[in-house]
This record gives sequence, structure tokens and C-alpha cells, in this order.
Amino acid sequence: MDKLLIRGGRSLQGEVTISGAKNAALPELCAALLTAEPVVLSNVPRLQDVATTLKVLRSLGAQAERSESQPDTVTIDAGNITSREATYDLVKTMRASILVLGPLLARFGEAKVSLPGGCAIGSRPVDQHIKGLQAMGADISVEHGYILARAQRLKGARITTDMVTVTGTENLMMAAALAEGETVLENAAQEPEIPDLAELLIKMGARIEGHGTSKVRIQGVERLHAPAVPHEIIPDRIETGTFLCAVAAAGGDVTLRRADARHLDAVIDKLREAGASIESGDDWIRVRSQGRPKAVGFRTSEYPAFPTDMQAQFMALDCVAEGSARITETIFENRFMHVNELVRLGAKIEVDGHTAVVTGVPRLSGATVMATDLRASASLVIAGLVADGETLVDRIYHLDRGYDQMEAKLRGIGADIERVK
Ligand code: UD1
Repeated sequence: MDKLLIRGGRSLQGEVTISGAKNAALPELCAALLTAEPVVLSNVPRLQDVATTLKVLRSLGAQAERSESQPDTVTIDAGNITSREATYDLVKTMRASILVLGPLLARFGEAKVSLPGGCAIGSRPVDQHIKGLQAMGADISVEHGYILARAQRLKGARITTDMVTVTGTENLMMAAALAEGETVLENAAQEPEIPDLAELLIKMGARIEGHGTSKVRIQGVERLHAPAVPHEIIPDRIETGTFLCAVAAAGGDVTLRRADARHLDAVIDKLREAGASIESGDDWIRVRSQGRPKAVGFRTSEYPAFPTDMQAQFMALDCVAEGSARITETIFENRFMHVNELVRLGAKIEVDGHTAVVTGVPRLSGATVMATDLRASASLVIAGLVADGETLVDRIYHLDRGYDQMEAKLRGIGADIERVK
């Protein structure tokens, strides 16, 4: 199993190019199931969750290939779908496989998708996806661990989800695009990946309004087609935020290319409070930092508030900051698993329910630690960059699920980091 070996203490200098957003790529690859014409996406990040999604699409009979000359471009041809089933083997490795449910049901009138089951950061049910599709007239049962869904043609409906759900909003928006009549999604998620998916669907002939707000209106159409030109996926705001935190913690001067600061207001505000200097233009962000950061507390919440996917990385920064910070996680019930590993590196953190209080220490000390989930791994890498001596991060397959060449990008800005077997 691969591990990352980091020798801490170097400041970071130079430029990093940010990849396309994982959480936009996954639903957009699944959106290609809505049409028989080949859909081309560009700026598709090279990471494990994308590879898993391509595998899921192939298991349904779609052709899903990266271009050899332009590896960030992927074509999905769902003209000849032979199966409507996403099996447990695939879904268990990636919950987002549930995103095939809405498109399969809307286009073919049936779908069989394994229930995702447990996951390290909490129970994460998909009841809202099911509730929404039922409101659109689908007949859904759960048998032997599978969601079985059928519908002649889905019918538009007014759907208010019990909580804001990102993939839930995406699944329902994709299903509604091919339903009969109007669907109104109330309490919709507003994360930037939702409007990006909506833009792709609109290029495919869908009629959608209000995407990016809490109320999305979709007028169903009978058929969708391929977008006239490849759809370019937005920059990954969480990868961007991770690099910003790394520089704010380790010190240095780094410019992020192909990055969008407008999707990161809450994180950038907190980084400025921590003492980092941040400037940005249309597609770049420059971050400078020196000396010890100041500890800054925050509370995770739905977009545009502070993202839960940045909680662990910002906590790593607070670990070496001056002062103490209170961090409250409101989205997932069990998202402090990185705490025990950060403590092994010398951090002082006390957890009480959904709140962690971090008291900054001047230095962390390198040790062997274990990644427990995707963003937790990124927080351990940041901690390793600021720790004395060597830090070995084990189980980095979690990191590979969601980051496109993280260690190469960090090496490019001066970090002493290598992958070891
Ligand atoms: C997406 C992101 C993930 C991010 C999360 C929250 C993707 C592929 N993943 O995950 O990186 O951390 O949003 O920003 O985009 N819930 C239910 N029932 C449901 C659906 C959700 O109870 O049917 C609960 C979840 O358990 C969680 C909360 O709602 O507590 C938010 O989850 P949700 O927004 O659905 O997360 P994902 O879409 O899975």
C-alpha cells in the first residue's frame, strides 16, 4: 500500500495548477447517461473517484474513455446501455455512484442501484434521493441491499428535501430534466457544482432556472442531446482551499492557476483572519504567509458558508497557530477522525460532540499516521509539511480518491514529499 513520506519545515514557493472539480465531474459524467449521443467533458481531474465512475458507466454498457492526446478530456457514449444496475462491488467503493439512479430511471424507466451503506464519516443515508423520485411518480423498493426503481415516465413535482443535500439535488435535477412537466426543487443545495451541472444539462437541451439558488425549476423535455462543444468542468474549490491552507500553515508565496476565488469566500476570509495575504484575479489566486498563523475558529455549513470538506485541512493549520480555535462540524456526524492522528503529531485538540477546541502549539513532531478518509488525509499531509522531522502518512488511497497528483504538485512548490511503497 502506498504511503507518503514528508520531511517537514520547508516553506512553499511557486505555482500550482488546480485541476477540475471532483464533485462536479462525478455528477456530470453520470449526466451523460441522459442522452444517446456522446458527451465530451474537459478539465476532468485524474483521480480515483473519476476512474470508479468511468468503471460504473462501463458496467452499464456505456463507452467512457479519456482522450490519449488530451488526458483531461473524457467522452462518454451512452448510446448502447445494456444494464441498468450499479452493483454493490462498485457502489461500496464510492457512494457517489448513487448519481446514476436519477439518470437511469429517467431515461430507461428502471434502475437498480446498491444502497451505499456505511461510510467512515457518518451514516449518510440516501432517503431524500428516494423520496424525491417517489414524488415524481417512481415506484421504489429496497430489496436485498438494492434500490429498485421503476417508472413509466417520471412526472414533474414540487419537492422539498428535509435537509440540503448536494448529490440529492443533483440526482433529482437530472431526473427532472427528462420528466413530464415542471419540477420545483425547494431547499436545493447551492454548491458551485450544482450550477455547473445545470449548465451542462442546459447545453444538452434541458430547461432549468434558479440553479445556484435554493429553488431550482426544471421543465422536463422528451430528449436530451450532446452539448455542441465540450463542457469544461469548474476548478476544484476544495483542492484550491487545501493548497491555500498548506501555504498559510507552512509559509511561503504561491500562485494557484486555473483557480476560482469566488467559490471560496468563506475559506479565504478565515485564512485572512489567520494572517495570510491573499489576492486574486479571474482565474488565479496568490497566497503569501510568513511566521505563525493566528488560530481561527469556524463552523461548517452548506454553501456559501465554510465547507465541511475544508474542516480537516483548516484544523491542521490551527494546530500550529497562535492561540486557540473552536471548530464546529454541522454537516456530518463523525467527521473528526483526523483528530487522533493530529494528536499523534503533537497537536492539542479536545473534542466534545460536534465541536473541537484546538490549542495551537509552536511545532508538531513527525510520526507515522493513518489517513481515515479523503479530507482527513489532506489534513495529515498539511500537518506533515509543518512538523519537525519525518511524517509517514499511511493509507493514502483515500487521498488518491480525490486529489489529482497531490504530491507532485506539492513537490513542484518545494515540499519534501515522496510516495513510498
Ligand atoms: C457531497 C459531496 C461531499 C461533501 C458533501 C457536503 C459529492 C460527490 N460529495 O456529498 O464531498 O462533503 O456533499 O457538502 O458531491 N443526508 C440525508 N439523506 C439524504 C442525503 C443526505 O440524511 O438522502 C444527510 C447526510 O447524511 C449529511 C447531509 O445530509 O449529513 C448532507 O449530505 P449531502 O449533501 O447529501 O452529501 P453528499 O451529497 O453525499
